[in-house]
Amino acid sequence: MLGHSWNDMAANNFNSSAREASVRAKTAESARLYNRAQQSLAGGVSTSLRRSARPYPLYFSSGKGAAIHDVDGNSYVDYAMAWGPLILGHAPPAVERAIVAQASRGLTYGAQHNLEYEVAERLTSIIPCADQVCFANSGTEIVQVALRLARAATGRRKFLKFEGHYHGWDDSVLLSYRPSAEQIAAANGAPVGVGLGQLPSTQAVIVEWNNRQSVEAAFAANPGEISAIICEPLACNCSCLPPLDGFLEFLREITNRHGALLIFDEVITGFRLAPGGAQEHYGITPDLATYAKAIGAGTPLSALAGKREFMDLIASGKVVHAGTLNGNPISLAAAKAALDELTKDGGNIYREMHRRGDTLRAGLQTMLQAAGLPVVTNGVGPVFHLSFAASPPRNYRDTMKADAALYSDFALALLDEGVMVLPDGRWYLSTAHTDDDVAATLAAARRILEQ
Ligand SMILES: Cc1ncc(COP(=O)(O)O)c(C=O)c1O
Repeated sequence: MLGHSWNDMAANNFNSSAREASVRAKTAESARLYNRAQQSLAGGVSTSLRRSARPYPLYFSSGKGAAIHDVDGNSYVDYAMAWGPLILGHAPPAVERAIVAQASRGLTYGAQHNLEYEVAERLTSIIPCADQVCFANSGTEIVQVALRLARAATGRRKFLKFEGHYHGWDDSVLLSYRPSAEQIAAANGAPVGVGLGQLPSTQAVIVEWNNRQSVEAAFAANPGEISAIICEPLACNCSCLPPLDGFLEFLREITNRHGALLIFDEVITGFRLAPGGAQEHYGITPDLATYAKAIGAGTPLSALAGKREFMDLIASGKVVHAGTLNGNPISLAAAKAALDELTKDGGNIYREMHRRGDTLRAGLQTMLQAAGLPVVTNGVGPVFHLSFAASPPRNYRDTMKADAALYSDFALALLDEGVMVLPDGRWYLSTAHTDDDVAATLAAARRILEQ
């Protein structure tokens, strides 16, 4: 027992005022640069979520392995990992060499080259549902290709999406992602389908994660109209909510039964839970799966993998798949090098990443619980979520009961102690994190609790 009670801890919020003053004092140059950027850059950051960083978004000059260094000379053990892409850590030598070698031969051709089929062949050999793949640049784009294929394959326009799951920032899918308590109250028990974009959704049918009746009812209410179910098989954007036992099997069965496609959005889980992503980890094969983040190891790359009967719609020209920078050799050189690294030692890299992730997660949980804090963790090895809540959530609405403000104070205290985590409770490990990094992180958490 660390000698604190939950009430003591909640009352002083991990010393958040003192922590904030300390971080501000150490990051004056970041504050100056952020002020400058706000004059010319809309919002001061390049993607809206980054603005939520406390006390303000920091500026970084370099990263190597599991460490990232800011412009004020502070170093952090990094568990943000650029929000997921850095599966091999910062600046992995093999990827760096491949990019430099390719850059001297050309940045992009807008035409065919060997890396396209070389990476495609690697992917079709690793991903269970992949007879073929196609490439784009971001997760948002590739989700659109998947939904378009599902519409073309079925002749239906609607799709099922789960409350709280995230599939990119296109208007068609930026729906029911973190709906507010007011929106939920206004929906009067029904799932919330309000979009964050400007368009109301006409095609998304919103259902509750881990709730079979909700999915059955949606199919019954939209007979012959649902082209696909799309889901994050491990709902990483929603507190890393795992599927309940049998839920993914149920999704596979009900889509088969209704002639709809099952799409796994593996933008986060791909090459992270296992080489073959969530479909390998959970043993369920979808019809289509989307990849971004880890596949490019930090470069802009996304891919759709799928069964031949659906991917053939691209070859036949029924579905348009376009993009000036699609399949660019810089991203594919990075992907080829990254895939070689990830698969070179018969799975040991993944075993180690899982072991370290599990050690860190269990260590944090035990320590925070011993301090009297109600802590809940979810996830799988290299990606987990930590929140302060009384009981484990099973759907988005349950996750709203967590004390997000207290977690934010914990994240700020960690930053002050040299550990960088995302503001929403997600922790990403990479192959570059060592046992020493994990030990240093647990020591930092212990210092926070002992103060
Ligand atoms: C599951 C999931 N799908 C899609 C996306 C969108 O990817 P991108 O940010 O590359 O457009 C994200 C991004 O975080 C994601 O987590």
